[in-house]
Amino acid sequence: MLIFIDSANIEEIKEIHEMGFLSGVTTNPTLVAKEKKGYHQVIRDICAIVDGPVSAEVLSGDYCSMMEEAKILAGLHPNVVVKIPVCSEGLKTVAKLAGLGIKTNATLVFSANQALLAARAGASYVSPFIGRIDDVSHEGINLLADIISIFQQGKIKTQIISASVRHPGHVLASSKLGAHISTIPFNVIKQIIFHPQTEEGIARFKRDWEAAVNN
Ligand code: G3P
Repeated sequence: MLIFIDSANIEEIKEIHEMGFLSGVTTNPTLVAKEKKGYHQVIRDICAIVDGPVSAEVLSGDYCSMMEEAKILAGLHPNVVVKIPVCSEGLKTVAKLAGLGIKTNATLVFSANQALLAARAGASYVSPFIGRIDDVSHEGINLLADIISIFQQGKIKTQIISASVRHPGHVLASSKLGAHISTIPFNVIKQIIFHPQTEEGIARFKRDWEAAVNN
């Protein structure tokens, strides 16, 4: 499973990128809005740091405007993947963009059937929002498992991104199930890196070595 960061913050992305395990970035309008910079500038800045797919979402809701926006976003950098919400207008946009060779990430996926339609329409990626499903007392991981099984049976090439990740358990479960990608917020990546026993072990090795040297 590849690791993406779900962030539009340049400092967070740089810090994680320097550790060498990052394969891509996803953003959404909420994350970009937090940066208080121009939408396109944020996407360009991210593409300058990470050499991998960078998802940038359209803001409009009708086919013609989504197409217009998608072409502009895709023109910002060759690594841009246009994020399109799964709805009637969105699916039409995904299909048209696929025909033009523009990569899409079908987003706001809350059912396996939505994921199947998006894949059949030609989406390069689908993003089931597992954390938001947990928020309403269902099991987001079950949705991910259903999509993986359906795509495997249909030999569907669309990449599955476990999205709306809230804690390290989501990442582990996504990886065990066989998701292609997990897009993880900065704070959850930091939680994964940290282990109290690793910290304790580092301190103990240092203590023991210094005690030996000083005797
Ligand atoms: O990639 C999905 C993400 O952008 C939404 O996450 O935490 O707002 O549910 P969240």
